[in-house]
Amino acid sequence: MKSLNGVKILFSSALVLLCVLLLGAGPKPFAPNVDMETGAIRVPEDYTRWATLGTWSHSREGSSSGAHEFHVVYTQPETISYYKKHRRFPDGAVLVKELLETETGAMTTGPVVSHATRLKGWFVLVRDTEGRFQTSKLWGDGWGWSYFAADSPKVTASTDYEADCVACHLPAKQAAPASAAEADQWIYTFGYPVLK
Ligand code: HEC
Repeated sequence: MKSLNGVKILFSSALVLLCVLLLGAGPKPFAPNVDMETGAIRVPEDYTRWATLGTWSHSREGSSSGAHEFHVVYTQPETISYYKKHRRFPDGAVLVKELLETETGAMTTGPVVSHATRLKGWFVLVRDTEGRFQTSKLWGDGWGWSYFAADSPKVTASTDYEADCVACHLPAKQAAPASAAEADQWIYTFGYPVLK
């Protein structure tokens, strides 16, 4: 009898533990850099070990003296393989755009060669196919949108994607192939030949 009680106690404790685990788990994470409770986005810690999607070189207007800024875009390697197969970004795809200052000089490869120096900040997009964070102004149109200053990779400096991001991404919509998924038309994919 004593041992039966023991089994019962063990069984009910296991059940309680299971419930606590299930309740505590909350919504399933779908991207490595999103707080599932609040929808807060951060710069993913290990993104420099991801794949490079592409690079944009910026020169000052009328200048012939090299680049004054580089934008380097990273994503998870599996995002690239998924896109190549299905022609769309998967749920949880993260696009990280680094803004980098430059220096320019003559090198053995050429007279005007620019290289990256100091990191200025990051723009981050997270694909959300389920419309998870309806009340957050950082989420909408199929993505989570955030900007981060270089000294604050965990706290976004932008507050409202419709005011902070959308207008500048409208030209991507015109450039996108008509076959692209609606949410993916916000992305400047023509700059990323690795997706072809
Ligand atoms: C001044 C215009 C402008 C603003 C504001 C802007 N973007 Fe962009 N964004 C661009 C352009 C143009 C590109 C591609 C070329 C480049 O970086 O020069 C781009 C590229 C990106 C990329 C790389 C993926 C892609 O679409 O090619 C991310 C990520 C990104 N932007 C996120 C954001 C987020 C998040 C915001 C708002 C917080 C934002 N952007 C605001 C113009 C802008």
